[in-house]
Parts: sequence; structure tokens; C-alpha cells
Amino acid sequence: MNASVLSIFVIYSLSISAFAPDRNRYDKYGIKIAINEIFFVQAQNQYDPPLFLVQYAPYEGSSLQCLITLPNGTNHYIYSVTMGKSQQQFFFAGELTNTKNGTFIGVAKYNASSSSCDTRFSFTVQYFYNYEHQEYYVIHVEPSGRYAYGFANKFIFIFDSFNISLNVWNGNETWPDHSFSPHAIDITNNFSVIAGFIRNAVDATAVYIPVIYLINFSSFTNYPYIVDQYRPNATVDTWQYLLTNSDADTYSAKYDMSVSINNNGGVLVGMQFINRVFLFSVARSNPIRLYFISRNTNGRSLGNGKSVAWLDNGFAAILVNTYSLNYQWASSEIYVYDIQTYGYNSNSTPLSIFPNQHQLLPLSFSSIFLQIISSPSSLALLDDQGNVLIMNPTPSGYFPAVRDSGSMPVFTSAQLCFPGTYKNRSGIQDCSICPSGTKNGGNSSTQCVACAANSFCPLGSVSDIPLSALETITQVITYPKSPENTQFQDVLIQNTFFINKCHTLYASPVFWWLIVFSLGCLALGVLMCSGKVSQAYSLDKQREPVKYWLKNIDLIHEGESMIGGLGTLAFLVAIIVITCFGILFLQQYPIETASTSSFACDASMRNAKFETNLQSLSIPVSNDEQQMFDLLDTQSFILNIQFINTLINCDAISIKGLYGSAWTTIRWLTCENTDAILTLSMQLPHQQISIQVSAEDVKTVGALRIGLYANGNETDQYHLKELNFYQSFFKFGQVLSQSLPITLDITKIINETLPISNEKTVYSGIFIPTFNVDLNGLFLSNDQYVRQMLPSTILTIAIVETPYYVKNTQLPIVKLSEVAFDSFLFVLGFLEISTLVLLILALPFKATRRVYFISFFKKSFQRLSTLLERRKLQTNKNIELSTVSSNEQIFT
Ligand SMILES: *[C@@H]1O[C@H](CO)[C@@H](O)[C@H](O)[C@H]1NC(C)=O
Ligand SMILES: *[C@@H]1O[C@H](CO)[C@@H](O)[C@H](O)[C@H]1NC(C)=O
Ligand SMILES: *[C@@H]1O[C@H](CO)[C@@H](O)[C@H](O)[C@H]1NC(C)=O
Ligand SMILES: *[C@@H]1O[C@H](CO)[C@@H](O)[C@H](O)[C@H]1NC(C)=O
Ligand SMILES: *[C@@H]1O[C@H](CO)[C@@H](O)[C@H](O)[C@H]1NC(C)=O
Ligand SMILES: *[C@@H]1O[C@H](CO)[C@@H](O)[C@H](O)[C@H]1NC(C)=O
Ligand SMILES: *[C@@H]1O[C@H](CO)[C@@H](O)[C@H](O)[C@H]1NC(C)=O
Ligand SMILES: *[C@@H]1O[C@H](CO)[C@@H](O)[C@H](O)[C@H]1NC(C)=O
Ligand SMILES: *[C@@H]1O[C@H](CO)[C@@H](O)[C@H](O)[C@H]1NC(C)=O
Repeated sequence: MNASVLSIFVIYSLSISAFAPDRNRYDKYGIKIAINEIFFVQAQNQYDPPLFLVQYAPYEGSSLQCLITLPNGTNHYIYSVTMGKSQQQFFFAGELTNTKNGTFIGVAKYNASSSSCDTRFSFTVQYFYNYEHQEYYVIHVEPSGRYAYGFANKFIFIFDSFNISLNVWNGNETWPDHSFSPHAIDITNNFSVIAGFIRNAVDATAVYIPVIYLINFSSFTNYPYIVDQYRPNATVDTWQYLLTNSDADTYSAKYDMSVSINNNGGVLVGMQFINRVFLFSVARSNPIRLYFISRNTNGRSLGNGKSVAWLDNGFAAILVNTYSLNYQWASSEIYVYDIQTYGYNSNSTPLSIFPNQHQLLPLSFSSIFLQIISSPSSLALLDDQGNVLIMNPTPSGYFPAVRDSGSMPVFTSAQLCFPGTYKNRSGIQDCSICPSGTKNGGNSSTQCVACAANSFCPLGSVSDIPLSALETITQVITYPKSPENTQFQDVLIQNTFFINKCHTLYASPVFWWLIVFSLGCLALGVLMCSGKVSQAYSLDKQREPVKYWLKNIDLIHEGESMIGGLGTLAFLVAIIVITCFGILFLQQYPIETASTSSFACDASMRNAKFETNLQSLSIPVSNDEQQMFDLLDTQSFILNIQFINTLINCDAISIKGLYGSAWTTIRWLTCENTDAILTLSMQLPHQQISIQVSAEDVKTVGALRIGLYANGNETDQYHLKELNFYQSFFKFGQVLSQSLPITLDITKIINETLPISNEKTVYSGIFIPTFNVDLNGLFLSNDQYVRQMLPSTILTIAIVETPYYVKNTQLPIVKLSEVAFDSFLFVLGFLEISTLVLLILALPFKATRRVYFISFFKKSFQRLSTLLERRKLQTNKNIELSTVSSNEQIFT
């Protein structure tokens, strides 16, 4: 029994005395940097005794820097350093390591009269030994810089730096929950906010849960006491809800928290283990309530709010790391928000993100960030190797550019905003992109100026670009459809009977027929009646031969009546008119050379029908057609690219082509930037190639225009059309993305015009483009642009031919051989029908005619059906012929 108690005691005391932290790690046990407007300090534990790197303001290369050893500091491990807003002293707190035990708090005061770095600071350290090793031990100073407060689970102390005195008491006297372990703190004049973990109820899922306490200070004793608390509760069924945090009692960087309070009582609390940053407000006059305002959650990962820091003017910097849920680092970024103006929640757009395309990390820097601290105008950044970058605020029109001097800390210096961006307030944030409708050509960096009306002026504009610069040129229109009537007979019917569709009356055969018929009637009337009116004008002599002649030519009543003869005359006219029509119609082919059909009712009438279809490139084509393919395949392309509304110059451009699997440099034919349009053209080594154009420049681009050019080649039979299309890509109110993958599918279009007589088939061909691209992916909104981080714009165009081509065929509706016969047939049919109509009309008057009518009807029917039979036979023959010829084509 005694032995086991003893062994527990031994293990216990060993665990106390064995506090041996990894001194090289900066992500353990607290904040290793502190900054105010006077100086910056960094604790460097990798040395024993530890060193302090002190850098004096102004934060630029030439200002004084000291590296000071903690006097008598062997076996001292510094947890945290901190300082007041404007004192020339800093505090440090930590524990003794190795065989020693004990906790200490110390102050280093600046001695202005000393000249050497070693004596410039006088150190005072206070030790206390009553408490075992604390995994979490945070310190902070009230703004006046006199009292430093230390908080741990087991103890709390006030350290008076003027009248060196240390007042330590048990933590359980202050913490309402005795299990509270503090992880982060910030203090202002009137209040303090401290965030940490408490042990949860025994039966609950989570072992440790986060809590945020609002602390006030007694005005007499300066003792802290808790006035309010906030417990961030996870929503049921979220990944945060399932967290148990069972290991939160031992130190783990994963459980780091961060608190920052600004002068207006705004409180930011970052809790990276739930990927959340909370914004609270505390009334400065009566700081007894912690009002929750909003929060920012960043998805299913850790690291959002690893560190938070208020800056001047209501801006705040948030260190957004991304770790997997098992704490594997993926990325680190500093987001700067204007919280005072725009608020802060999960959808907030940051003003800028560091690092980015033009604010690059120094070479010596690790990309894993640990901590940010504000002065509050400057921002100090600590990486996991102990490197420090101090970002200085820049005035309007300038952004802080990293000056990689090679020494530590690294500083930034002001650089003029790039064209297309502006900055209208001072601070450490980057320049913002000019809003849509405004531009900065390089001389208005504090405020973008309005663009001219009717110009293309998207996000990040540098110039007024006329809309005509964005013209898309298409070379192909829809292939015509076949007309409604593709049979000559139908065309004739259409043209003869549908007078209402006529554009001019004289185009209608019926019109001519009526004229002839009425003139004939008139003449006949005059002839017949002339004797009755006046003997002097009698035409008796002429009457008989006319009568005789008319009766003889009467085909309708088979030589019975004069009127029938007159009708026949009119029919003869109709035959002539229709034949004329047929001959003129014959010439309306092909449509490319046809003129307006003024002779027909429908002026757009053409002797052409069309077929269009997709064919596979892998089916062999006839020799004739193959030549067209060869012409197309040997066409040599010139690729034209325009970056519109940009100041990127040719010096930033490089072009590569993909030969096999290697990217090889290609030279441009022309390259120039005129009026903010960078025009680039290059000869492509072959048709199907991938081209990569990279612009090693961070400047914005408004739009993209891509075209191909190739010479034509016209011979009698083959017309290779000149290729010259352009496609523009733009979106009002957005800026071109920096990664531009574009697939350009080219498809052959081949027009085949079959001959109307015995000439050769004429082919013409051209490539048409299909840009296979997601337009939304090519452009960025302001929010997306801020989050984009590429240092160059890379356009990749892959030219690929589609495995099919479009085959358009044009053939005549009627050929010369058919037109005469078809016209005759039509008139004959017309005659029959007319006779029938006349007979029907005459039916009521002559009963005897009925018999005749029936016999006539039978006869006509027979005649028509034999004609139709013949016609059918002829058509069948045609079809057979054409099938044979097309079969021949396939097999040749
Ligand atoms: C360091 O130790 C020496 C001797 O023990 C002592 O005289 C001196 O005051 C100490 N310095 C500090 C800063 O504690
Ligand atoms: C720490 O060490 C001191 C002597 O250096 C000793 O008096 C004290 O009891 C020790 N404290 C603990 C908690 O072990
Ligand atoms: C300040 O430095 C000077 C010169 O090194 C020294 O004489 C003086 O005692 C120092 N004052 C304090 C308070 O340490
Ligand atoms: C320092 O302490 C002494 C006595 O403990 C006291 O008389 C004096 O007022 C204190 N000084 C300050 C600045 O508090
Ligand atoms: C606080 O803790 C100390 C030792 O850790 C203990 O002696 C004391 O009784 C506790 N006080 C309260 C109020 O729990
Ligand atoms: C808060 O701090 C300010 C400035 O230090 C002070 O004037 C004010 O009285 C304080 N208010 C309270 C309630 O302590
Ligand atoms: C979280 O839950 C606790 C216990 O149910 C409750 O007291 C507290 O108000 C909740 N906090 C929030 C922010 O809802
Ligand atoms: C047109 O093509 C033919 C056959 O490929 C070629 O011989 C001729 O040089 C070409 N003409 C032009 C102007 O390219
Ligand atoms: C094919 O014919 C149509 C209609 O005449 C014309 O618009 C098109 O340009 C022609 N295409 C080619 C490749 O000649």
C-alpha cells in the first residue's frame, strides 16, 4: 500500500521535474512575439539561456536591433512575451526546466542611457515555487503597462512592474469552474476577455468544452473577477458536435485560442479546433456583458482563427490556417477584413489575403504561420521556424511589398498599387481591385475613376475599351433548309394557284391566263355584237373564219363551242408561261449563284434542296471528296490571342507548344500592347496542338479574345475558304481568371454542290470552332479574385478536331431533262381538271351531258393514271440509278 502511494508520488514528482519542452518549437506553450509602436520582441527558446530579439521601430532595415540573453537564464523556458501599448518594457513568463522546478514572471526595462545592447535592458525576474508545471499559462499586461497578469488553472498573479511585487493566489478562488484552463487572453483598460476549456459534466459526450469569460478588475486591488461568460455550443449533427476534446488538458497547438480586443470594445476570439472566429461586443462604459455579434466558420477543417489581431480603423487580421482534422497542415493565410464597415461572418469578403501573387513570402520563410500580433498599426507574423515578418501600414495608394533582405525580421515597404487596383485607406491591407465601371490606368491609385459610357470596363479595368474590340466573328451560318416543296409539280402548283402569296401579280400564270381569256372574250364579244349595234362596223366577214377556227381548236368540248376554243387558247398561253417558268426556274441553281426569282410568285424560290448530316471521319470518302479533306488538313493555322483591358506587356509573355509529351517554346509572329489590348499571334506547327501562353505578371486582364486565321485556296472544283474567326470571352463585372483552360474543337464543314448538268461536283470546306469552356470558370468575382493566389496568368488552348464532320449537300429540284416533260404533264392535268370543272358547272343545264360527263370522267381518270404510272416508273429508275452511283462511291 505504502509502496504504491510512494511510486505514484515518485512518478508525480518526476513528471514535475521532467518538464523538458522541445526548445526548437515555436508553436508550444504560448505566444513568442510581442509588438507595440516602439519595439518588437521575440523570445528564442532554442538557446539556453533563452535570447530575446529586440527590434526597434520604425520597422525598416536600418533601425536598431539587439539580441539579448536572459541573465542567469539557464534552464528557463519562456512561455510567452507581452508588452503594454506604449511602454519601453516587455514582460516574459515561463517555467524552469530540467531538474529545476518553479514558475517565473519577469520584466525587461529599457535603459535609454545605455549604448550597448547587453546593458540596454535591465531584467527583473520573480519566481514562485508553490505550483506544479502548468500546461497552459498565459500572461498579459493592462494597457498602461504597469501590471502584468498571469493566468493558469492553478494560480493567478498580479505582477507590479513599477514597485516590483508579485501577488499570487490559487486559481480556484477566481475561476467559477475549477477545471478552467486559460488558453488565450487580451486586456484593455476596463476589462479582459479570456478563453479556455473547462471540464464538461461527467455524463456528457465532450470531455472538455470551450468557454469565454469576461473579466473586470477591482478598481482598488486590481484583482480580476468574472462578470460574464459565453459557451460556444456546436450545432447538433455537425462535425464540431462530435468533438470530445478529451486531450485538451495537455498542451497541444491544436487547442490554441486567440483573443484580441480593440478600442471600441470589439472582441475577436479565434478557436481553431472548431474552425471558428467569434465576434463579440462589450460596452466600454459598463463592461459587464459579452454580446455575441457574429461568427465565421470555414468548413470541415481546423485552423480558422489560429491567431486574430485587431488593426487600426476597425480592420482586423485573421490567421486562417488549414489543417486536416488530424492536424496535418495544408495552408496558411492572413485575411484582412474591414469589420467595422462590412461586419464579419462566414460570407464576408476579405479586403486582401497575404501572401498573394504580388505579396510573396520571403524565401527564407516557412509557409506554416503560427502567430500574428498587431501593434496595432503594424502586424508581426511568426512562422514555425521562428522567422518574423513585420508588415508596416502604407498610406492610400500603396500596398506593403515584402522586401526580402535576408535578415530577420523581414520588413515591408510601400509600393504603388498596380494599375486596375486602388487603396483608399492606409493600413497593411493590399490594394483592392477597381470596381466594375471604374478604372485605374496607373495614375489614380487612391480612387479609381469612372470609365466612359458604353465602354467595356469590368472589374480591375485599366482603360476604356470600346465594345467593338470584343466582336465575335462567326464565319458559318445555318445551312439552308430544303423548301417545303421539293417536287417540281408541287412547285408548279404552288406558283400557279396561290396568287395570294405573289410578290407581284404578273408573276402568276393565272394572271396571264385571265388576261388572255378576258381579252379573248372581249374580242369575241365585239366580234359577235358588232353587227347588232351598227351595220357600218359590221365584222360579219371576219366572224365566220374566227368561229370556225375557234371551234376547231376547242379541246375542251371537243370541237363544239367557241368559248371552248377561247379556253384552249388561254391554255396554250398557260403552257407557254409555265414552260418559261420551268426554264427560268432551272437556272436558280446553285443558290450561291442564283439571283432573285422575280419571275415567280415566291421571289426566294430556288431550284435547290438541301441535306445536312454529321458523318464520321473514319468512314472513307470518295477520291473527289478526299481532295477537299486534304486541303483542309494541310491548312496552316495562325493563332491570334488578345488579352483585353490589361497592361501586361510582351516582356511577360512566353509561349509553349506541346510536342509529344514535351513543352517546347514557340516564337510569336507579332506581339504588342496597344490601347490596353495585348495582341499576340503565332504560327501553329500543326493543326492539333496544345498551346500554353503564360503572362508572368500579376496585372489584371478584363477579357479574352481568341481566333484562328488560315489562308484559303480556291480552284474550280475545290473552294477552301479562308479561316478567320474570333471568339471573345468576357463578363461584365468580373475579371479574367488567371488559370484559363480552353479546349478548341474544330469541325470540318464540307459543302457539296451536285451538278445540274454534266459538270463536276463542287466542294467547299471550312473549319468551324467550338470553344469547349466553362465561362463561369474563366471569370472571377471580387471575392474570388481576392482569394486567388497565382502569380501569373496561364492560358492553355488545346486544339482538337472532332471525330465527325458536317456534310452539306445541295441538289437541284429539277434537272433540264425533267423540266419540259413535267411542265407538259402539269398543263395536261390542269386541262383535264378545268374541263371537269366546266362540265360540272354545265351539268344542271343539259341532262344529256351527264352520260358524256361520266364517260369523260372515266377517260380522264385512265389517262391520268397511266401518266402517273409512267412518272412513278421514271422516279424509281432515278432512285435505282442514284443508289448504284452512291454504292460505287463507297467502294472506289
Ligand atoms: C544573476 O546572478 C548573480 C549571481 O547569482 C546575481 O548577482 C545577479 O544579480 C543576477 N542577475 C539577475 C538579473 O538576476
Ligand atoms: C521546487 O523546488 C524547490 C527548491 O528548489 C522546493 O522547495 C519545492 O518544494 C519544489 N516544489 C515542488 C512543487 O516540487
Ligand atoms: C542604465 O545604464 C547605465 C549605463 O550603462 C547605468 O549606469 C545605469 O545604472 C543603468 N540604469 C539602470 C536603472 O539599470
Ligand atoms: C511601492 O510600494 C511602497 C511600499 O510597499 C509604497 O509605499 C509605494 O507607494 C509604492 N509605489 C507605487 C508607485 O505604487
Ligand atoms: C483551492 O486549491 C487549493 C490547493 O490546490 C486547496 O487547498 C483549496 O482548498 C482550494 N480552494 C477551494 C475554494 O476549493
Ligand atoms: C474605462 O477606462 C477608461 C480609460 O481608462 C476610464 O476613463 C473609465 O473610467 C473606465 N470605465 C470603467 C467603468 O472602469
Ligand atoms: C450553450 O449551452 C449551455 C448549456 O446548455 C447554455 O447554458 C449556453 O447558454 C449555450 N450557449 C450558447 C451560446 O447558446
Ligand atoms: C492551293 O492548293 C494546291 C494543292 O494543294 C497547291 O498546289 C497550291 O499551291 C495552293 N495555292 C495556294 C495559293 O496556296
Ligand atoms: C455552305 O453553304 C452555305 C449556304 O450557301 C454557306 O453559307 C456556307 O458558307 C458554305 N460553307 C462552305 C464551307 O462553303
